[in-house]
Amino acid sequence: MLDAQNAAAAPAFIRREDYRPPDWLVPDIALDFDLDAVRTRVTARLTVVRQGAHDRPLRLDGDGLSPLSVRVDGADAAGWSLEAGALVIPLSGDRAVVETVVEIAPDKNTQLMGLYASGGLLCTQCEAEGFRRITFFPDRPDVLSRYQVRMTADKARYPVLLGNGDLTGSGDLEGGRHWAAWTDPFPKPSYLFALVAGQLFANRDTFVTMSGKTVDLAIWVAEADLPKTQHAMDALKASMKWDEDVYGREYDLGQFNIVAVADFNFGAMENKSLNVFNSRYILADPDTATDLDYDAVAGVVAHEYFHNWSGNRVTCRDWFQLSLKEGFTVFRDQCFSADQGSAAVKRIEDVRVLRAAQFPEDGGPLAHPIRPDSYIEISNFYTATIYNKGAEVIRMLHSILGPEDFRKGADLYFDRYDGTAATCEDFVRAMEEASGRDLTQFRLWYSQAGTPKVRATIEGDTLILEQSLPNTPGQTNKQPMLIPLRLALFDRATGTHAGEQLELLDTPRKAIKLPGSGTRPVLSINRGFSAPVLVETDRTSDDLAFLSAHDDDPFGRYEAMQQLMLDTLVAAVRGEQADHQPVITAVGNTLANNALDPAFIGEAVLLPSEAFIGDQMDRVDPEAIHRAREALRTDLATALAGQWEAAYHAHAAARFEYSPEAKGARRLRNVALGYLAAGRADEAGALAFAQFEAADNMTDRIAALGTLANGGAAERAAALAGFYARYKDNPLVIDKWFSTQAFSARADTLSAVRALRDHPDFTLHNPNRVRALAGAFSMNQLHFHSADGAGYRFLADILLALDPINPQTAAKLLPPLGRWRRFDESRQKLMRAELERILAAPGLSKDVFEQASKSLG
Ligand code: PHE
Ligand code: ZN
Repeated sequence: MLDAQNAAAAPAFIRREDYRPPDWLVPDIALDFDLDAVRTRVTARLTVVRQGAHDRPLRLDGDGLSPLSVRVDGADAAGWSLEAGALVIPLSGDRAVVETVVEIAPDKNTQLMGLYASGGLLCTQCEAEGFRRITFFPDRPDVLSRYQVRMTADKARYPVLLGNGDLTGSGDLEGGRHWAAWTDPFPKPSYLFALVAGQLFANRDTFVTMSGKTVDLAIWVAEADLPKTQHAMDALKASMKWDEDVYGREYDLGQFNIVAVADFNFGAMENKSLNVFNSRYILADPDTATDLDYDAVAGVVAHEYFHNWSGNRVTCRDWFQLSLKEGFTVFRDQCFSADQGSAAVKRIEDVRVLRAAQFPEDGGPLAHPIRPDSYIEISNFYTATIYNKGAEVIRMLHSILGPEDFRKGADLYFDRYDGTAATCEDFVRAMEEASGRDLTQFRLWYSQAGTPKVRATIEGDTLILEQSLPNTPGQTNKQPMLIPLRLALFDRATGTHAGEQLELLDTPRKAIKLPGSGTRPVLSINRGFSAPVLVETDRTSDDLAFLSAHDDDPFGRYEAMQQLMLDTLVAAVRGEQADHQPVITAVGNTLANNALDPAFIGEAVLLPSEAFIGDQMDRVDPEAIHRAREALRTDLATALAGQWEAAYHAHAAARFEYSPEAKGARRLRNVALGYLAAGRADEAGALAFAQFEAADNMTDRIAALGTLANGGAAERAAALAGFYARYKDNPLVIDKWFSTQAFSARADTLSAVRALRDHPDFTLHNPNRVRALAGAFSMNQLHFHSADGAGYRFLADILLALDPINPQTAAKLLPPLGRWRRFDESRQKLMRAELERILAAPGLSKDVFEQASKSLG
């Protein structure tokens, strides 16, 4: 418990129910930046307009700013004050022009929020509340302004000056300086403001929109990185076309710029017409990026582009509505990616991410609904729940309404709310009106946290569906949800079904009469993962094996195999006699099925991760899980040795090609390599090393390195050293070198990660590098949860060292420590002790305070 003194000092909760429209609007803002890494001077001229009848002063948010000058309507202002960082100015009239001048230090900005230096660049990150670190402003998303921005900077250091909107002027100045002016005609909230200055080079192209307007596209990077930008450019053009084809949404300005920066807290940012990206989601070439990296680049480029409508043209009223833009935009990028390649494999990957990141969040101390009710620090709410569960909620609407009514609803939403700041409720109401359906019960997905459980059993001629929703922090006694379940009933004799149906489960229990032929059907349920729920059934291992061979829904087929594997593994972990044969047979049949796409086979034959096995258990036993999984992996490897070998050799390519077929072949081949290594470690070392040396692409090279790093082959050290030497100048690849070692199952992994913490290439100032070491290690269930608590201490030490530098990224490292309730008493104590040590640290950020205090519960 917090004592009275601490409670007084503890950061306050912001509540959704306290929302009030802004007292003052700012229809126009003119910003002048005198740019310099050490000292940048920012002059802001705001036209402010009183909204409604009230006598409250103008309150401009500020974070770490002190005004050098405050003027109102051209005269020095009187009576202003600073309150908790904010500038408060009493104004008598209903309209005024308020001018402030501040100075900020980009090169001291290690939080990477506001204006900061990355490499030789100056760039901004304003979402969610970074703009207040640049200038005094009502920094909330429902204050929309037209921006006019002028920048001056040293021309040699910062030859390129980019802003939102259109370039409206530029020229040279004395003393080697120059200037540029940018005007954005679209009113926008401050979180979408951006500028970038530096030595950048552009990959340029054009796109002609559906109404015939030509848009100039540019992807800006360091000169040496230009050859790695073509994939991102192709993805950008494909996304622009896709949004026209699928949503009828056209781009609205003459220019679209993307800039890649090395130091970035998130993946990328959708600033109006000036997207800023973590370079890992732009740069890709065969030698340095894996197939997964290529997919991620395309997915994130599409995501940020799609925000131009779902986020920018229609933005969020307040940060509790974050999923309005993020859930919808993730759904849009998922559909885009599904349309670019194998939709089945994309769906499997999306569900895997949801289960790995969101289900544990929903079942733990940080659980929150996709529209939260309160927060301490909004940065902590850029979560898998807001993004990925949010996307599942939109997908369910799409399934319930059908594509045509969903599109009508989206049109209504975009048209009705264009140029405004909307709410999740506005979105649902548009869907309701366009479709004529009552979505009252569906709205519970926005307010109730936790992953629903559905139990499906067949009793005689009846299918019984039951749902329940566990308690989550602050929420008990939940109401039944509306759960759309796609299902099919297979006839075991023919291997077919009479058609898929969409069952809307809206009560705690529902009994459905089966069309009776007398024989018990095999149930395929939650096909395509139609609802983000946990499904429990009474299906036997025979049923699952049958579905893994016959289900015509690829996700259902994958799911049946996963469930068969999970049932086998969970039994083994519990110490029950585990028969591996059904899994071996099912995997063997899948490998032998020539009708299947190799990319799909590669996913289907993979064992569930150790973490996911742990998620099925009340008490996670990391060592027992590792042993059980290794035993099954070894048996699969040995029993199917010939098939793995055949798959490995059948899918070898003469030379690298980037196509869905070639990607699928690499996927299956590398999965086969993993099994070959599990079966015959000695020979596989040589095989992996040969692949490592001969690879003409990163997918094959890193797969071989991962296999070697995980084991004890003689070639291991040479591969790690060779990889480092080859890529030492490429930070994105060196990240892979760090994380590959952090993921290793080897007994010496903890001492290896400790040594990597002291490696000259390790830095707390680059979020990618921190995540590559500490983030990756915290997902290594076996070693992070080492029984002596050394893994917990390692993570907490890094987190505490990082907090004063970059609290946002530090707070993101914390959740694995909050899962203590799932472990044995001794581990619980050790994890709680680290959480308490973190909470006791002097000067703790509110970001980490919120995560740690909630995690202790
Ligand atoms: N809005 C960004 C996105 O999802 C994410 C982001 C949030 C980036 C906060 C930076 C800071 O596309
Ligand atoms: Zn987004």
